[in-house]
Amino acid sequence: MSFPNVRLRRLRKSEKIRELLEEVRLSPKDLICPVFVQEDLKSRIQVDSMPDIEILPLKDVVSEVNSIADLKIPAIMVFGIPAKKDDKGTSAFDQNGIVQRAISEIRKNLGNKIAIMADVCLCQYTDSGHCGLVKGNTIDNDSSLEVLKKIAISQAQVGVEVVSPSAMMDGQVKAIREGLDDSGFTDVAIMSHSAKHRSNLYSPFRDMAHCAPQFGDRRSYQLPYTNPTEAMREVETDIAEGVDIVMIKPALAYLDLIAKVRSSFNIPISAYSVSGEYSLVKAAAKQGWINETEVTLEILTAIKRAGADMIVTYLSKIAAKTLNG
Ligand code: PBG
Ligand code: ZN
Repeated sequence: MSFPNVRLRRLRKSEKIRELLEEVRLSPKDLICPVFVQEDLKSRIQVDSMPDIEILPLKDVVSEVNSIADLKIPAIMVFGIPAKKDDKGTSAFDQNGIVQRAISEIRKNLGNKIAIMADVCLCQYTDSGHCGLVKGNTIDNDSSLEVLKKIAISQAQVGVEVVSPSAMMDGQVKAIREGLDDSGFTDVAIMSHSAKHRSNLYSPFRDMAHCAPQFGDRRSYQLPYTNPTEAMREVETDIAEGVDIVMIKPALAYLDLIAKVRSSFNIPISAYSVSGEYSLVKAAAKQGWINETEVTLEILTAIKRAGADMIVTYLSKIAAKTLNG
């Protein structure tokens, strides 16, 4: 009886054959680079927990985004840090708000050189630091939807292409879709933070964006990481509400969900590799314990392998520089 002499090493023996056999190829085109812009800031600042990530003053936004585009990264995600917070999150939908000004400057100066996506949430803008409006000691869902809708419309008016609600309010996709459509922005897409977990990996972001909750926590709206079925239900609901791209967040510890969403639905998937995922890599690399660029490529490739079509990551520039050679 003959048997096939299977030797998998045959296809691993030379570099060119290995290249030919690559199944998952990470490209700068898979990446979305977050951009932080702070109102009334004079010059760029850094935050200890996010090494090499800079918070920009408005005057530096265009040149920074231009250099991101030059790295062949197709999209940015704009986050704003306003000068003033209040109980209604007013500065989030101000036509002269920091995000609105940043978007309009980028559009004016760079045209369609890069796709502009923007975060839609209240937590940087509310004095409570919560992602919705506070009523008594709860986060009120339906009044928050009205504000999220206004934020999305205000961003659409200055040329955003994709709005990305991250508040985890029920019905946020439906409310924003209706708001955009009623205002004539039927072509602005929604990439919802569909399965956004209550993660401990967000703390460096909160240092940067000054959006830590001032009382309680986000457990009444963000998903528990113990509940994968509930996560699927969030995704399902967003799809029913007309979302264009679903997001799983964080990424690396949630690859099971990315794979499951990939096999369950026909919809583009983005994964958000969050601030804590970045700072883990940077901290270990700084010690010389891991190779920063190699680990970056490995992690991002794994996220893509799980089924993500795109990755929002603070590692975007490091990855793109390496991939561009
Ligand atoms: C708030 C928001 C958070 C992140 C993105 N938007 C923090 C939070 O929910 O507390 C986290 C992103 C990151 O850690 O990189 N809407
Ligand atoms: Zn928020």
